[in-house]
Amino acid sequence: MSNHIGAGAAVSSRALGTLLDSWRASSSPGYAALADRLRLLVVDGRLPVGTRLPSERELAAHLGVSRTTVAATYSSLRETGHVTSLRGSGSVVRLPSRSTTPRPTDRGGDVVDLTKAALPAVDGIGEAAQRAVDALGAYLPDSGYDIVGRPVLREAIAARYRERGLDTHADQIVVTLGAQHAIALLARVLVGRGDRAIVEVPGYPHAFEALRAAGARLAPVSVTVDDGWDESALLQTLRRTSPPVAYLMPDFHNPTGATMPAEQRVRVLEAAAAEGTVVIADETMAELRVGGDGEARGLRDVGRASSSSSSAAPAPLPMAAYGPAVMIGSAGKSLWGGLRVGWIRAERPLVERLVRARSAGDLGTPVLEQLIVADLLGDMERVLEARAAHLRRGRDHLVAGLRAAFPGWSVPSPAGGLSTWVNLGAPVSSQLTVAARQHGLAVAAGPMFGVDGAFERFLRLPFSYSAEETDRALAALAAAWEGIDGVQASSGTALSEVV
Ligand SMILES: Cc1ncc(COP(=O)(O)O)c(C=O)c1O
Repeated sequence: MSNHIGAGAAVSSRALGTLLDSWRASSSPGYAALADRLRLLVVDGRLPVGTRLPSERELAAHLGVSRTTVAATYSSLRETGHVTSLRGSGSVVRLPSRSTTPRPTDRGGDVVDLTKAALPAVDGIGEAAQRAVDALGAYLPDSGYDIVGRPVLREAIAARYRERGLDTHADQIVVTLGAQHAIALLARVLVGRGDRAIVEVPGYPHAFEALRAAGARLAPVSVTVDDGWDESALLQTLRRTSPPVAYLMPDFHNPTGATMPAEQRVRVLEAAAAEGTVVIADETMAELRVGGDGEARGLRDVGRASSSSSSAAPAPLPMAAYGPAVMIGSAGKSLWGGLRVGWIRAERPLVERLVRARSAGDLGTPVLEQLIVADLLGDMERVLEARAAHLRRGRDHLVAGLRAAFPGWSVPSPAGGLSTWVNLGAPVSSQLTVAARQHGLAVAAGPMFGVDGAFERFLRLPFSYSAEETDRALAALAAAWEGIDGVQASSGTALSEVV
């Protein structure tokens, strides 16, 4: 079963029971705790707006609680605007209007929002934008509609692949509206209704959504901080299901930070090619190399293969250097998410299919943003140094703070990417997330990154934020953790009773 329900669908008591998982382990396992857990599922998107909830009677029977408890829960959800109940159509999930629950602001404001692993713009965007405005005149005489990408940007992206060691021609590039759009476009073109799609768990939830929206049934394969990809499961799933696509994040995998060793890339791509599976390698994080003390862990196999020095491990080449792979890139992390520029690198026949399919959804990427990205891709050495310095400070500050405050947690120090995948030592991630909101911190609970309600022991914490925001987040986590402290010892037993 999935832990993301399709919008507009009815959720069964059984499916909802799985999503609710550890609500009983909270310190007040009555209607208030149940309502809190349901609100979390609504707010973090696991219960999409429009989903019809089970009747009070069905849910009460499934959870083994009284109907009064469920009635009080639904009533509490109605009061906070998370549910509307209409005669004849039952209780339907809604998002409250801003007046009832103020949304956390991105930066500043009362709530620290760490639900996004994102960065502020890199220095130099303003100047690049000014130069792009100056260059814009040359583009104004034509229509400005540009479905495949401006030649100047396609060439700059191809040149960047060549700098990273992979021969690439500009006509292998399709410029998109960010990496998310690239995933959705590839899913639409490559996946048919009911097809299998391999994904990593934990993994990137919006990729799950895009693949599902294209009709895919997800086939999960595990990735862990310490051991990376479960290679035998991955190869077996490839052979058993011959899926049309496998979506992988081989570099600084979101959320574990793992990087796939070079030899493993070769084996995986070979097995995929034998099944006719297109490997989509999402390299959104690939250039966010932080280095330092996490290097030995995240890149340990790559390092072992090529160098004994933990800090000198070379970056792997882009995925397609090891075998056939379609790659996704983005300016969103290295430069700025607000540019909404990403791309796909594929062989020419697929480029043509993508371009033909694209116009059903959008008609191209804005020209000015393309010019800004083309400009800055010529300055990547400076850009990436600045990013690495920012992220190294953020990672070291967050990791040190977490290790000091929560000695029972396992806190990895990843070699790159934007976040650390923390093991809480007990299956209390959703509870902690609910409690943290009450202390002014929004974070994404571990199960957001799975497909079956798993990962209650994990929390993804981004290290891309300022020291001040991180300190506020740490304080909120400490207060929230204290609130659920009494539950930790008993949570193992309490959980095993639920579904
Ligand atoms: C792995 C991964 N792919 C894609 C995206 C989306 O990137 P973009 O902002 O370029 O759409 C993200 C954003 O966090 C991501 O983590």
